[in-house]
Amino acid sequence: SKSPSKDWVVGAPAHDLDMALFVSASSFHLSTKQLINDAIMNNDFLKKLEPQHMREMVDCMYEKVYGEGQLVIQEGQPGNHLYVLAEGLLEVIQHGKLLGEMRPGTAFGELAILYNCKRTATVKAVSQSHIWALDRQTFQTIMMQTTQARHQEYFSFLCSVSLLRGLPEEKLAKIVDCLEVDHFEKGEHIIREGEEGNTFFIIAKGEVKVTQSTEGFAEPQEIKTLGVGDYFGEKALISSIFFVSCILPSSNFNQMVGTYEELQAYLKEYVEELSRSDERRNALPYSP
Ligand code: CMP
Repeated sequence: SKSPSKDWVVGAPAHDLDMALFVSASSFHLSTKQLINDAIMNNDFLKKLEPQHMREMVDCMYEKVYGEGQLVIQEGQPGNHLYVLAEGLLEVIQHGKLLGEMRPGTAFGELAILYNCKRTATVKAVSQSHIWALDRQTFQTIMMQTTQARHQEYFSFLCSVSLLRGLPEEKLAKIVDCLEVDHFEKGEHIIREGEEGNTFFIIAKGEVKVTQSTEGFAEPQEIKTLGVGDYFGEKALISSIFFVSCILPSSNFNQMVGTYEELQAYLKEYVEELSRSDERRNALPYSP
């Protein structure tokens, strides 16, 4: 059978100097979970992970014990684990210089895992230390699985949006990559009449009321209600960048600009078609 612990013992390369004793995962108590969780939340780089990712990471961690003087991480080596110190004391050394100490409740070794770089410092046990580890492979699998599940969920949803129905699958998949979910409380304004629009919204849950200033009324009048799968802001879209609030790294963004343009062209056509049919409707002689 394949357990993370066995993988680590058998398969891990010697980079992370894992000569430490392996301690059974049964010692994984709730308080340890809490400690790992807090440590992750206190780490500037890891706290940005989604709660779902964090929970799964915590569940896949296992304990290792390092003796006094033993190296946990060696500067310049590839990184294969992410760690949380549960008990003991560690020191951080860079270019032979002591940078500081780490106390229980600290997550470390995240830089090489998150940024795919070499270990930026050496971490050494000052006294016997209990450290929880997560394999790089497991970390990446967790990130991918949840991302894939979310991708699938968004993709199915976008397929149900009438405006996007004509788009080829690969375009939809790219839109999914740029989607950002925003929550609005009841009564909160999403966009205001007269404001310059630069975001296209699709309602995933709930209802939206559309109001417009109307001659003869002091207050804007309700003109329609939109629900799940409906969208708004599409006219703003044609004169501006698609999904400006996307969360893609810039390298990816550049690769996708072509796609945005194609989407804009597609939507421009669509909006023009809407305007034409509006004009046609307005030009028709009145027939009750
Ligand atoms: P990583 O580069 O993967 O491996 C060494 C780890 O030491 C690094 O991730 C950080 O978690 C930690 N680290 C690096 N620089 C410092 C520092 N100046 N002070 C404390 N911890 C550090």
